[in-house]
Amino acid sequence: MLIAPSILSLHYDNFNAELNDLNNSADWLHFDVMDGNFVPNITFGPAIFSYFKKNSKLYTDVHLMVTDPVYFSEVFAKAGAEGITFHYESLNDLQKCSDLIDSIKSQYIKAGISIRPKTPISVIETLLSKVDLVLIMSVEPGFGGQKFIPESLDKIKQLDDIRKQNDYKFVIQVDGGISDKNAFEVTSAGADCLVAGSYVFNGDIKHNIELMRKCEQ
Ligand code: DX5
Ligand code: ZN
Repeated sequence: MLIAPSILSLHYDNFNAELNDLNNSADWLHFDVMDGNFVPNITFGPAIFSYFKKNSKLYTDVHLMVTDPVYFSEVFAKAGAEGITFHYESLNDLQKCSDLIDSIKSQYIKAGISIRPKTPISVIETLLSKVDLVLIMSVEPGFGGQKFIPESLDKIKQLDDIRKQNDYKFVIQVDGGISDKNAFEVTSAGADCLVAGSYVFNGDIKHNIELMRKCEQ
């Protein structure tokens, strides 16, 4: 299981200590980039992202919740993102999504596609042969601390079945409302990478991450 804590929930007044804990216990750092348009919330741009990069060797996983993922992917590619995931709904066009995936991959960056809770897997089916990651949103994107939508489990299973049938190699990532309480269910359904924000940063980060890992055993 890969654990990708969401930086959205980090306490900036305790930046050094929290990043240090993440460096010693997490697998990836998950960056929720929001533009106040695709979602109502606004987070951060490349300057803050670069500060994390300077202080961590962890894989940087950028989740774009923006209306213009073409522009934002260029910005974060330049800033050194190792993985960039954008929403199908922001382009709403399979050819445009396919072109953006190609462009991200041509820069040796992993390309991911994400869908909101109400978007079915079937919509992105033709993209599955070329993506490195599929992100199933298990809450409406925009804010941390929401409740996991249980119907997401069926979507994860469906996606995992398609992956097995076609021998696709993409990572299945799930984001929203994940904690030690449901991590087992989510990974059993087929997820490889769990994003968690409020759960990880509420209390002892290292302990919380350890508890999540134990769920699998
Ligand atoms: C939601 C973000 C998530 C969020 C997860 O729009 O994509 O990454 O921060 O937070 P929790 O774990 O609190 O649901
Ligand atoms: Zn996210």
